[in-house]
Amino acid sequence: MTKRVAILISGRGSNMRALCQAMASPDFPAKPVLILSNRPDAAGLDYARAEGLPYTVIDHTQFESRAAFDAALHDALQKARPDIICLAGFMRLLTPGFVEKWAGSLINIHPSLLPKYPGLKTHQRALNAGDTEAGCTVHHVVPEMDAGEIIGQSRVPILPGDTVETLEARVREAEHQLYPACLRKLVES
Ligand code: GAR
Repeated sequence: MTKRVAILISGRGSNMRALCQAMASPDFPAKPVLILSNRPDAAGLDYARAEGLPYTVIDHTQFESRAAFDAALHDALQKARPDIICLAGFMRLLTPGFVEKWAGSLINIHPSLLPKYPGLKTHQRALNAGDTEAGCTVHHVVPEMDAGEIIGQSRVPILPGDTVETLEARVREAEHQLYPACLRKLVES
């Protein structure tokens, strides 16, 4: 049966695009039912508009607390009835209460080989450490940040002369393969 997928973004939305392009294939057993951004100016929304995908904005700056924002997020998601919620560059920490309500359905992509480098500035930290490889991870979301069970990982080399920008671009290309593959794995399991 076709699974219903919501995708949460905050910015560029290139992973959201990769997920939607994969789901556009007739043999992919999932479809996007909602693109949701916490930023009205997220570039990723242009893609949703151009493709006629259902989208909405819940601007976090309009809420007094994290809990109030998460309650609005929860309401919007309940209306869309997703089986799976993909965080794709969604740069808001979610409250434990929200995460528990959607436990098992929430997944995230993170630009490092977790458990290495949870949090921000992953590429800078990998370069500073003199690592020879980097990568990305798709994982279940649990209340502790970037700590849930790993669904899949992809590795890329760190090359001599790499900068944050060159490494980020290489990792992002890997993300665009990994995230749809992990989504497929999840919906087919
Ligand atoms: C991606 O690299 C994703 O792994 C990262 O944000 C980028 C979003 O790019 N996510 C995190 O850092 C989450 N902590 P995109 O908007 O082009 O998909």
